[in-house]
Amino acid sequence: MKGIILAGGSGSRLSPSTDSINKHLLAVYDKPMIYYPLSVLMLGGIKEIMIISTPEAKPRFEELLGDGSSLGITLKYSEQKQPNGIPEALTLSKHFLKNDAVTLILGDNIFYGQGFTTLLRHALRNHKHATIFGYRVKDPGRFGVVEFDHRQKAISLEEKPEEPRSDFAVTGLYIYDNQAVKLANTLKPSARGELEITDLNKAYLRRGQLDVELLGRGFAWMDAGTHESLFDASEFVKITQQRQGFKLACLEEIAYYLGYISREQLYKKGKAMKKNDYGAYLLEIADRKHTQQYWDTIDRNPMLGLVE
Ligand code: G1P
Repeated sequence: MKGIILAGGSGSRLSPSTDSINKHLLAVYDKPMIYYPLSVLMLGGIKEIMIISTPEAKPRFEELLGDGSSLGITLKYSEQKQPNGIPEALTLSKHFLKNDAVTLILGDNIFYGQGFTTLLRHALRNHKHATIFGYRVKDPGRFGVVEFDHRQKAISLEEKPEEPRSDFAVTGLYIYDNQAVKLANTLKPSARGELEITDLNKAYLRRGQLDVELLGRGFAWMDAGTHESLFDASEFVKITQQRQGFKLACLEEIAYYLGYISREQLYKKGKAMKKNDYGAYLLEIADRKHTQQYWDTIDRNPMLGLVE
């Protein structure tokens, strides 16, 4: 299983903040937006990840995250020259994916909730062809919308419908088998001039190969693509972190608890940035006793194992 983060686009809805910086590098409270989707892939146990961004932003992402070795993972980078739509992320990654399955996540999607790692790993292990994640929202018309039957089988999918057939948005997290690249190649641009991920999901639906996992009311799912949603997401992260003293999407913490990096590596990174809150947090983790208690708080259930 490989991972892709799509962090391209013009970010025009966040202009002027995004006139000279890629949206996914903006901070969601105390860390860059891309940390959040990257944390999701890492929690899923995915270690080979392609980050797709614009030609201008690619060097900035490389500067931020490097080759991934400081997190015990492998990061590769590629460019989407024009915002041609989400499915292009798959065709652009053809050589990276080879014959592997893929988990694709959008760079502005934030997932948080007790049991999320367990749910994700379960979905990754049981995945057959395509799995999408549904989440109830008040304004489904802003998203891809999935309608499903009592067995949780999808029966229809629509992109930003005027009259949504359900309240369930399709989140920006998708697990596909290797057919996805071929199917993405057959798609035609929609009225807004982009290839639509909903059309790819429809292709799987027509084949009877689409599964839906629901994220229940204990989960928070946010996209941070507008000023308002970015502010809301920052506020959510701030409040949640402040209360428990755990950081959301602290990549080094995840790498440490998954056994990808040593305590010494964590300590070194923390020391290098000890003057700020993030560095101080890394040092705090390195000094934690009774580590098992903390593992459990990120659902590190050893019984679930990692996906290959
Ligand atoms: C995209 C997808 C949509 C999905 C959403 C999730 O929308 O097209 O189906 O529900 O991401 O964030 P966009 O960000 O292009 O509005």
